[in-house]
Amino acid sequence: YLSGGEMKTWTGDVHTVLSPICIKTANGLERKVIGSYPLCGEEEAMASLNDAILAYRDGRGEWPTMSVAERIACVEKFTGKMIAQKQEVVSLIMWEIGKSYADSVKEFDRTVEYIHATIDALKDLDRKSSGFAIEQGIIGQIRRSPLGVVLCMGPFNYPLNETFTTLIPALIMGNTLLFKPPKHGTLLHYPLLEAFRECFPKGVVNTIYGRGNVIIAPLMESGKINVLTLIGSSKVANQLKKMHPKVNRLRAILGLDAKNAAIITDKADIDLAVKECVLGSLSFNGQRCTAIKIIFVHSSVADAFLEKMSAAVGKLKFGMPWEKDVFLTPLPEPQKPGYLQSCVADAVAHGAKVINTHGGAANASFVYPAIVYPVNEKMKLYREEQFGPVIPVIPFDNIETPINYLIEADHGQQVALFSNDAEELASLIDPLVNQVSRVNINCQCQRGPDIFPFTGRKDSAEATLSVFDALRAFSIRSLVATKQ
Ligand code: G3H
Repeated sequence: YLSGGEMKTWTGDVHTVLSPICIKTANGLERKVIGSYPLCGEEEAMASLNDAILAYRDGRGEWPTMSVAERIACVEKFTGKMIAQKQEVVSLIMWEIGKSYADSVKEFDRTVEYIHATIDALKDLDRKSSGFAIEQGIIGQIRRSPLGVVLCMGPFNYPLNETFTTLIPALIMGNTLLFKPPKHGTLLHYPLLEAFRECFPKGVVNTIYGRGNVIIAPLMESGKINVLTLIGSSKVANQLKKMHPKVNRLRAILGLDAKNAAIITDKADIDLAVKECVLGSLSFNGQRCTAIKIIFVHSSVADAFLEKMSAAVGKLKFGMPWEKDVFLTPLPEPQKPGYLQSCVADAVAHGAKVINTHGGAANASFVYPAIVYPVNEKMKLYREEQFGPVIPVIPFDNIETPINYLIEADHGQQVALFSNDAEELASLIDPLVNQVSRVNINCQCQRGPDIFPFTGRKDSAEATLSVFDALRAFSIRSLVATKQ
């Protein structure tokens, strides 16, 4: 692992990484071992924190005082080295989290594009901040200054891309970093460690590996983390924030839970709604925070929707990530198949029917898609974020039903609204956009393009991310002023 500008050799316990991709053995299907990572302890975590603190030196370190142009040059150099590692990183994304090869390539390319866009955005921001303003006899230069030491934790579903949407802006704004990769999605960062070491001053980027409860708790309890950035669950985020002794001094930049709804009115184009709901609910097996995780469909079009949706899902190819045109792939979290099956069983026990488009059941890391209908408030699938290939569908007669669902929800990320009636759409936009942070009209929910704001209401987010917003989030607007 990388700490204080050195690649440290680990001789302690390791976590063996099992791929979701299975091989046939005498015992049946078994996950393949693809590597291991150190299970660091509190001592190593605190030493890495110390390295980040030394590099920041209370804002007097080489990195936070470097010019923007010099910092950009370091990030550009890093990006060049990262591109040279593309094949290795892409292949590790595929093996570690079971993402299709095509989507793993997309994740890598999108990340490189994100870094380039961030550099352009910072150049623009710097141009605007380098001038002086005169107001009431005061000459002022408004700047963007760093915040300190950032603890950065990304999610398993976009282990490279979403991690870098916080790591890169945090870095380029002059902060120093402690970076803990996700449990499923650690190995793919190995090929980049040497590039981090070569391109940034000592101690600016430090990695730590291990169990969250062993290494993260002491870091938070030290009170020396200035910024916590996590793409994950609100439960974990709240636990971590509570550990910080001076939580009012901690900036939290969080992308959290979501249970995005699709609403299909009786005036919708059903073929279009089906096409977008398939993508929205099943891309990367439904393991996206932006996935459509519940569908409200007007009763008068419910049968037509279900029939077409089942047929469309049934055509999706299930297989190994490297297979041509594969859409559904193995899941990386070992407990997920059992959890999803329990959600479906609970719905059935409460009166729902299940359409198993691929024959049903789960096997090792494979979970075949299920459409569950009609879902009601007694079922787990009504509120829980299933984060997998199970699609709950609810019929409605009155548009107040889905609106009330959103009002009462703990989450408020996005909605996908389907209607071909301009008046109906116009009447629904305000009620919906005042519940969630993005309303998608006649298209699925998604984060990008990355230039657009990405956030959420209630338990779905703290802070806004995007190419521009992230630069603001990881800095403070400061002023150097004097009398005229
Ligand atoms: O998992 C959450 C991601 O932000 C989803 O991103 O909508 O681009 O797939 P995406």
